[in-house]
Amino acid sequence: MELGVSDRLVIFGISGDLAYKMTLPSLYRLERRGLLKVPILGVAATEWGPDGLAERARAAITENSDEPFDEKVFDALIARMSYIAGDFGDAALYTEVAKAIGDAEAPCFYLEIPPGLFAMVAKGLAGANLLGGRARLVVEKPFGHDLASADALAADLHQYVTEQQLFRIDHYLGKEPVQDLTYLRFGNSLFEPVWNRKYVRAIMITMAEEFGVEDRGSFYDAVGALRDVVQNHLLQVLALTGLEPPTGGSLSSRRLDFFRSVESVDPQHAIRGQYEGYQGIPGVAKDSTTETFVALKLILRSWRWSQVPVYIRAGKKLPGTATEIVVRLHEPPMASINKRMIGHTGHDDIVLRIGGDAGVGVSVRVKKPGSDKAEPEMLNLDFASALGETPTPYERLLTDAMNGNDMLFPSQDVIDETWRIVQPLIDAPPPVETYQPGTWGPAAAQQMTRHVGGWRIPMGIADA
Ligand code: BG6
Repeated sequence: MELGVSDRLVIFGISGDLAYKMTLPSLYRLERRGLLKVPILGVAATEWGPDGLAERARAAITENSDEPFDEKVFDALIARMSYIAGDFGDAALYTEVAKAIGDAEAPCFYLEIPPGLFAMVAKGLAGANLLGGRARLVVEKPFGHDLASADALAADLHQYVTEQQLFRIDHYLGKEPVQDLTYLRFGNSLFEPVWNRKYVRAIMITMAEEFGVEDRGSFYDAVGALRDVVQNHLLQVLALTGLEPPTGGSLSSRRLDFFRSVESVDPQHAIRGQYEGYQGIPGVAKDSTTETFVALKLILRSWRWSQVPVYIRAGKKLPGTATEIVVRLHEPPMASINKRMIGHTGHDDIVLRIGGDAGVGVSVRVKKPGSDKAEPEMLNLDFASALGETPTPYERLLTDAMNGNDMLFPSQDVIDETWRIVQPLIDAPPPVETYQPGTWGPAAAQQMTRHVGGWRIPMGIADA
């Protein structure tokens, strides 16, 4: 059965941080673009007065959206919203939800709550007969903290909903420049023919964040960089960089095939770092060994990528903020022109920038005016100036979930594969090394890519 288009949106955890920072501003943007069609019900434990929801929404939108505040758009949004407070463990709450959404046939329940509460809420909804037919459940990461717990969570949820009804949000998949990866690869004769072991020397992904863990100490200390951004966001990005062309318009099976071709990481091919000062953050254990930086090498066992190493590094308190994928090509043979060798300065990189200043860069060597030498330069496309305004990830993902379009949501098979890939590092983590804030992590991580010419420093970040 097709899930089709939702006729209600119900948000559990509407008073929380994620709703404040992401969902409410995204709903406002959708309202402004005329894309919201259904009544929205917010549910949370917090008791609010009659204007509580409107006040919270106004603050969230003005604080977290860069667009001018339009009272008419805001009024239209508030007019479609209502609110219920209650205890998620109490069956009476779900009776009230059922009453509030009346004859809805395809409600979209969005759980912006800790994963420990997912099953409780799903059970409550099922108990009130709200999860039948075309209903859907949208959940936010983390989906488990290792392979076993991810499976246990899925088994819990599958008691109440089918896999088809489950939409797991990984906000990276909602980012326009991340979706662009497949368009760039398969839509351009310049890129598609070289995208394989014959031309590619290495793939390198960097996710650098200049900021630290700050007020998220207790959350982060139990998680670390590997689980926070590598197992989910960066592996999804890698899959889009490496998967085979879609069949019948769908990427899902190609994505799964790709993950199956990735060997589980060897802990000897990983470096973990922790920035100096991390242990002083409220909520962080004084003797914490949680990594705030991780770098690792992955091996791909596929026809296309045989012998092409993949390197991933991600960390907090690095020299700047940027996320990019570098597809490093083999160098051309040496040529001599006018009896002068054209030296191989720089690298043959295709740079796909998905965070910071999103865009694409291609390095080219050009003749230095007035000399016989070649110099590396970058051909750059900046998405913001070329393409204008883009929807935020949550606008896209909420719209897709409400339309029953599951292309940007990882299935349980995919979640399992991604945990399988990182599991050895969870089971046998190498010791964590301290690094200075503002550097690229432990020195050993810098060395890791030297055989393929070293990491690239993302555009806009000064060399540390
Ligand atoms: C989140 C992580 O999932 O992604 C954060 O929990 C991280 O630690 C964030 O900072 C990065 O997302 P973005 O969209 O800002 O690159």
